[in-house]
Amino acid sequence: QVASLADRYEDSFDIGAAVEPYQLEGRQGKILKHHYNSLVAENAMKPISLQPEEGVWNWEGADKIVEFARENDMELRFHTLVWHSQVPEWFFVDIEGNLMVDEEDPNKQEANKQLLLERMKTHIKTVVERYKDDVTSWDVVNEAIDDGGGLRNSAWYQITGTDYIKVAFETARKYAGEDAKLYINDYNTEVPSKRDDLYNLVKDLLDDGVPIDGVGHQAHIQIGWPTIEDTKASFDLFSSLGLDNQVTELDVSLYGWPPDNAYESYDAIPEEDLQDQAERYNQIFELYEELGADISSVTFWGIADNHTWLDNRARQYSGGVGVDAPFVFDHEYRVKPAFWKIID
Ligand code: XIL
Repeated sequence: QVASLADRYEDSFDIGAAVEPYQLEGRQGKILKHHYNSLVAENAMKPISLQPEEGVWNWEGADKIVEFARENDMELRFHTLVWHSQVPEWFFVDIEGNLMVDEEDPNKQEANKQLLLERMKTHIKTVVERYKDDVTSWDVVNEAIDDGGGLRNSAWYQITGTDYIKVAFETARKYAGEDAKLYINDYNTEVPSKRDDLYNLVKDLLDDGVPIDGVGHQAHIQIGWPTIEDTKASFDLFSSLGLDNQVTELDVSLYGWPPDNAYESYDAIPEEDLQDQAERYNQIFELYEELGADISSVTFWGIADNHTWLDNRARQYSGGVGVDAPFVFDHEYRVKPAFWKIID
């Protein structure tokens, strides 16, 4: 039995993995129990999974993950109450059956805004009441910032402005209680312009009394990007507001952006790439440890290389073929050089 990731970092932060309900069994279930002390659902707790139609709830997959976490005494992160993606369209359809974003009458716009916020509150209340005894950290709002600057022009934003963010956090707090940890989650938080936009948003919300406890940094990173200085600067910036940081969706792609030169198979991945990836993991975990109390959890966006959302992206840009290998366990669940780097 090899050393455990969770044990190795016990004094610093939780070690989590994103899972689909079917990954809780067999080999993957064993790895989860041994190496991780925190779980998050890769898809099963997104609005489209939980409430595909208004008032029609589907708890099966989500419940399985909650039960596994409970049985194995693991922390649970909830992902995600509000997001522009993987949210069913009915949220944004008005009482006449039209898309709210197309409405031009100011009176009807106001009515639509209230309707959307009510739907959101109902969603949050129902979900939070069900899982509040099990979930310790909640992604309340995901990806509110636009890569090109300012706030993302999502349907949420077009219909409610920033009120959806405010109301989402207030509703989550109301039903989850004071002990729950509430996060605003985003990717590329290391990019200076984006982290500043996120900082300005969070600062305004905090000044306004909105209950935010921390920032979730997705950390979909690459071997050579972003720099460790930018990564550290981002954690430090949000710590300066008195907020917690969590790394919520860590993976280290072998490729740059776009991944248009992906290797066709695992066998084609050069040993050198795996060594470089190991150095990269070493570098970021050293930083995470150095950050001490400023970071409470590090979650990988998967378990092993046989199941990663990055494969789809690689294939999309590399003519339909290609694999990525972003984790510390390979496609056959063997430890990779990166594993030893972050254990030692
Ligand atoms: C991804 C899942 O991994 C995929 O299986 C799904 O098809 C799309 O969503 N940012 C997030 C995650 O916050 O929810 C995304 O997860 C990856 C990017």
